[in-house]
Amino acid sequence: MAASIVLGMSSSRCSRRGLFFLPISLAFTSSVLLFLYVYYTSKLYVHPPEFSKINPQAPVRVGKSQQMDNQISQEVGSISENDDAFHDRSLFMAKYKEMNRSLKIYAYPYKKDDPFANVMLPVDSEPKGNYASESYFKKSLFESHFITNDPSEAELFYLPFSIASLRHDKRVGVGGIQEFIREYILNISQSYPFWNRTGGADHFYVACHSVGRSAMEKAVQVKLNAIQVVCSSSYFLPGYVSHKDASIPQIWPRKAEPPTRLPYQRKKLAFYAGAMNSKVREFLVKTWENDSKISVHKSRLHTPYSEGLLGSKFCINAKGFEVNTARIGDALYYGCVPVVLADHYDLPYADILKWDSFSVVVSTWDIPFLKKILQEISENEYLKLQRKVMSVREHFQWHDLPVDYDAFHMVMFELWLRRSHVRTLRG
Ligand SMILES: *[C@@H]1O[C@H](CO)[C@@H](O)[C@H](O)[C@H]1NC(C)=O
Ligand SMILES: *[C@@H]1O[C@H](CO)[C@@H](O)[C@H](O)[C@H]1NC(C)=O
Ligand SMILES: *[C@@H]1O[C@H](CO)[C@@H](O)[C@H](O)[C@H]1NC(C)=O
Ligand SMILES: *[C@@H]1O[C@H](CO)[C@@H](O)[C@H](O)[C@H]1NC(C)=O
Repeated sequence: MAASIVLGMSSSRCSRRGLFFLPISLAFTSSVLLFLYVYYTSKLYVHPPEFSKINPQAPVRVGKSQQMDNQISQEVGSISENDDAFHDRSLFMAKYKEMNRSLKIYAYPYKKDDPFANVMLPVDSEPKGNYASESYFKKSLFESHFITNDPSEAELFYLPFSIASLRHDKRVGVGGIQEFIREYILNISQSYPFWNRTGGADHFYVACHSVGRSAMEKAVQVKLNAIQVVCSSSYFLPGYVSHKDASIPQIWPRKAEPPTRLPYQRKKLAFYAGAMNSKVREFLVKTWENDSKISVHKSRLHTPYSEGLLGSKFCINAKGFEVNTARIGDALYYGCVPVVLADHYDLPYADILKWDSFSVVVSTWDIPFLKKILQEISENEYLKLQRKVMSVREHFQWHDLPVDYDAFHMVMFELWLRRSHVRTLRG
């Protein structure tokens, strides 16, 4: 319709009015088209809550390699592709074996009497607290068969500095981290040939504290080329480059066998407790503070935290300062289905695991619809989600001595997927 107006105008020869209306009608037509485009593509106009709720019964990606499926299916047993927490379990199993066999990593060496040994070497003590994942990774790596002393057989090079230790080191501190990293990269690039060969593309570091995000500001090559394995993996923020970088889960360390609580024994619909350090959390608590089904707390609980997680069907991970918190790990440990309320979170192992099979990822815009979204999940669907929670738990667990498929090995697999994008002929 709009097009015929334009044609009509332009074909009505030598009319002054035509000349006058032509630009106006062109402008009008473009506006209509633009409006239609925005209308049909923008969430601002069309935003039913169902859109952001990930449907656990959505069709599942079909496995890629039929041949590999047949080959591996015996080991995998009866788990069908459609009912699995993995995008493609058989492919993962095959690739995992290959990774486990072939991946070699060279860690820049430091002696115990090096002035920065505390930052470069794994700690002897038990990793503790919120940022334990960083410590656990380093300890596990140094004890593993992935480490090689021969850099010529290494596919990846580990930058062993600990952001968490640098923060607490009086000689460096939060304010000195950027300068320290700049000098560190300069040092290794002068003392060894490896950095210059690839501009750092086959190098990686691991950090769980969010100050790691700005730590590379004076070492741009690290930010742009190296593989950053971090807890605060938000693809909305400039320090993190999804696909190149990888997400490591933030896990509060727990030793004991996790307690079990059956789904029907979980009386509350959803649970959240935590400090009010973000708009998302404030909005969440303000919206649901008096609800009888959704239990939200902005201060210390009088009852044990574990009871909250064990007594609820769903447990909410609401973004704080960062997209990541230890709450997803907490929820999984206690067999509670995580609700992820953290926009732009590049979720850990997202290229291995299907997060929509064991969690509910909700846009923060949908906080007012949270109850409806969760109540619409049928009992059957819930049982499926909860069963997957139990099956993925092992991937979110650290060990003093790493075991296959635990958090350490999953991160190794993520690294392996990102290896060798740059090949060199030299060296
Ligand atoms: C991985 O490698 C270790 C050390 O060689 C071995 O003990 C383990 O069985 C391997 N795991 C798998 C799944 O191949
Ligand atoms: C860099 O090397 C110098 C000289 O060896 C050393 O004093 C300094 O501590 C090193 N700095 C870093 C950050 O590794
Ligand atoms: C690597 O490149 C830097 C900057 O160009 C240079 O200063 C350094 O000497 C080089 N390292 C080696 C080992 O050649
Ligand atoms: C919850 O209850 C308190 C106290 O009665 C009230 O001040 C608050 O506005 C209520 N919040 C909501 C969201 O209804």
